[in-house]
Amino acid sequence: MSVQPAARLRRKDLVGIDPLSAGEIQLILDTADQMREIAARPIKKVPALRGKTVVNLFMEASTRTRFSFEVAEKRLSADSLSFSAAASSVSKGETLVDTALNLEAMQPDFIVIRHVHAGAPHQLARILKSSVINAGDGAHEHPTQALLDALTIRLHRGTLEGQVVAIVGDLQHSRVVRSNVLLLSRMGAKVRVAAPASMVPVGIEALGCEVHRRIEDAIAGADVVMMLRIQLERQGRMNFPTVREYYDFFALTPERLKLAKRDCLVMHPGPMNRGVEIDSRVADGPQSVILEQVTNGVAVRMAVLYLLAGGHGEPTAD
Ligand code: CP
Repeated sequence: MSVQPAARLRRKDLVGIDPLSAGEIQLILDTADQMREIAARPIKKVPALRGKTVVNLFMEASTRTRFSFEVAEKRLSADSLSFSAAASSVSKGETLVDTALNLEAMQPDFIVIRHVHAGAPHQLARILKSSVINAGDGAHEHPTQALLDALTIRLHRGTLEGQVVAIVGDLQHSRVVRSNVLLLSRMGAKVRVAAPASMVPVGIEALGCEVHRRIEDAIAGADVVMMLRIQLERQGRMNFPTVREYYDFFALTPERLKLAKRDCLVMHPGPMNRGVEIDSRVADGPQSVILEQVTNGVAVRMAVLYLLAGGHGEPTAD
């Protein structure tokens, strides 16, 4: 399977992986690969988005995604504004749509949104003229996370095709798993998922993955193991008896990692619950690429902004 990159990203918005073709994903990854070089320069800035304005509308907590969008915007010379829900009129009861319409009245070019409710970016994309980028909507999608995960795998392995990727953890509440299964299966990887039965969403296999009940079966012979955080804030109650029991049956430990390929990559989107879904000896071990994922997130977000703004060709020329 040889995927030809699309010539351009002819879209106003990036609301999910689902609408993207394999060629569009390839174009974003190729462009992100070129963007990485800017971070190695003494002056980490190109004029590609000079004169463009980006509003970062984060209505749910974030460290990695929010800061890497801000870094990406600054590296492309965009003017970037960050929205704090607590210090805004949202705290007085203003709706998401009214908030977005008022921000759009100031004529930004992009609105990057994270929201607790699935579908919030899609709703804004329909009513706004600005480009809308989904930075995570409820338990639905987190497209730029899947893109940065794919870039990280590709940088180590040269390709996504044929890679066996095991994704283990709280599948029920994870937007990362949905975007990753869609992207990786579309690009020819073989995706396995594993979780306790109470954390497996009905019909997840239809996205393009094998479902396993034991972590050991999912990670046996894998090229990549991606661990997911237990999202206690999205669970009405814990979907497992105790944290200790979860660790005993589903955590990635040094012993379990030996079941995967010798050079298996260890990934986690963060934030990690150390000692719950991942042992610190693995998280900080030689196979971990967790902080590389964060670095690659900046390049992916630069690529997405650049391509949605109509960019093509050589993005790194100044
Ligand atoms: N991976 C991720 O989305 O992390 P943040 O919630 O810190 O943005």
